Amino acid sequence: MVRFCLIILAVTLCRASAQKLFPDNFKFGAATAAYQIEGAWDEDGKGINIWDTFTHTAGKIRDNSTGDVASDSYHKYKEDVAILKDLGVKLYRFSISWSRIMPDGRPYSINQAGIDYYVNLVKELIENDIEPFVTLYHWDLPQYLEDLGGWLNPRIADYFGDYARVVYTALGPYVNYWVTINEPSTTCVLGYGQGILAPGKTLIGDGVYLCARNSLKAHAKAYRIYETEFKPLYNGKVTINIPSANYYPKTNSTLDAEAVERVFEFVVGLFANAVFKRNWPQVVIDRVANRSRLEGYSFSRLPEFSEAEIDYISGTYDYFSVNLYTSVIVEYKDETAISTPSYLLDMGIPVSINSSWIKSTASWLNSDPPGTRNILNLIQKKYNPSEIVISENGWADTGDLDDQKRITYLKEYLTNILSAILEDGVNVTGYTLWSLLDNFEWADGYSQRFGIVNVDFDSPLRNRTYKSSADWYKRIIEARAIVD
Ligand code: NOJ
Repeated sequence: MVRFCLIILAVTLCRASAQKLFPDNFKFGAATAAYQIEGAWDEDGKGINIWDTFTHTAGKIRDNSTGDVASDSYHKYKEDVAILKDLGVKLYRFSISWSRIMPDGRPYSINQAGIDYYVNLVKELIENDIEPFVTLYHWDLPQYLEDLGGWLNPRIADYFGDYARVVYTALGPYVNYWVTINEPSTTCVLGYGQGILAPGKTLIGDGVYLCARNSLKAHAKAYRIYETEFKPLYNGKVTINIPSANYYPKTNSTLDAEAVERVFEFVVGLFANAVFKRNWPQVVIDRVANRSRLEGYSFSRLPEFSEAEIDYISGTYDYFSVNLYTSVIVEYKDETAISTPSYLLDMGIPVSINSSWIKSTASWLNSDPPGTRNILNLIQKKYNPSEIVISENGWADTGDLDDQKRITYLKEYLTNILSAILEDGVNVTGYTLWSLLDNFEWADGYSQRFGIVNVDFDSPLRNRTYKSSADWYKRIIEARAIVD
C-alpha cells in the first residue's frame, strides 16, 4: 500500500513539474462593453447615443435587434460579479457609457445616477477581489456629439478630455488599468468608412483618416489629463486599445513580405505608430499622398500632424492593450487604378484565409493559434512595450451550451500565449476573454454569440447559464495551466 501511494505521489509530482504554469504576474480575466450588455437604454437619466439611434433605424442590424435590454447587466451587475468571482477571474474589463454619465456628452450636465452605477459596480468588484479594468469609450458616442460631426470633428478631443476627467474623478481611486478608446480602427473604418457600424457614414476616402487623427488626439488628451492630474494620486496605467490580426504573406516573395508590412501599417500602425513611436507610419504617409495627388487633390487625404501634435501624442501609453482573434493571408497587388478615393485602395492589398483554418460563425473569425504567438512577438519587436495585456480574445458561435469549439480555440490560443511568455519572453500580464456573457454583437445583433455564459434573450429575466467553456475556464484559472 505504501509503495502504491509513493508511485501515485511521484506521478502527480512529475506531472505538476512538466506542466507549464502561467507566471504569478499574469491575471486571467473576462471582458464586456457597456452597449453590448447593459440595456437600460433610456433609464435613470441616460442620454441617447449613436448605437441607440443606429439600432432604432430599420435595416441596420442583421436580426433587427437592439441593445435596449441586451444582457440587462445594468440591473444584474451583482449577479455578473458573482459569476466572475465563481469563475476565479481576477480582472474584469468593462466600459463606461458616456451618455449614461453625461447625457449629451457635455460637462454642464452630469447624471449622478450613471456615476453611481459605475461606482457601485467597481466597489462590488473590489469587494470580491476582482480588479476593475475600465475602457472609457467602447463605441457608444453621445448622439449630440455625433450631430456635431462625431469623430470627424477635431473638437472631439476636447469633449473626450472633459468626459475622461469626470470618469477619472469618480473611479480614479479604484482603477489601475485604463483604456481610452477601444479599437478605433474598427469604428473609423466600419463606422465612418463603410457604414456597417454606427454612425453609419460611408466616407471611406477621407473620413477614415480624419477619424483616425481625431481619435489619436482624443486618446492623447485623455492620457495627458490622467498623467498630470491623476497619476500623482493613483498611479494607474493608461493606453489606447489596438486590435491586430496576424498577417501571413501568400508566398515567400519579397513583394508579399512588403504587402504584409504595408497592411500591418495601414491597419495597426495607423493607430499605434503615433502613440508608440512618432507620427503616422511612413508607408501610409507616402501611399496616401501619392494617390491623393493622382486623384487631383492639392493635399494629402491623410491629415498632417504638426511637430507639437506629434510630441503630444507620442509616448501616451503605459502598456499595450491588444485584441487578438484571427489571421489573414496577404497578397501583393500594386493598386495603380485611380477611381473613387478609398482607404482600401490606398492600402491596396487583397487578403484571403487559409482553407484549413477552422471557421467560427463570424465571417472574419478563424482559428489560427500560432498566429497569436506571432502577433505578440511582432508587437514586442515593433513597439517594445514593457507590458502587454490581451484585452480581448474569443470565439463566435450560435449559442450552443456545449461549446467544444470555443474550448478548443481558447485552449490553443492560450497555449500559444503561454509559449510567447515562457519561451519568447513577451511580458503578457493580463488576458480578458471576450466575452463573459452572450451579448449584442453590433451589426450582427444576437446572431453571433461570444459568451462563455449563456444569456436567455427570449426571457425578460435574462437568466445566465454556464456553457461548457465557463466550466473549463474555471478549471484553467484554478490550475494556472492549460488543462482539458
Ligand atoms: C471587438 C470589439 O471590441 C467587441 O466589441 C466585439 O464584440 C468583439 N470584437 C467581437 O466582434
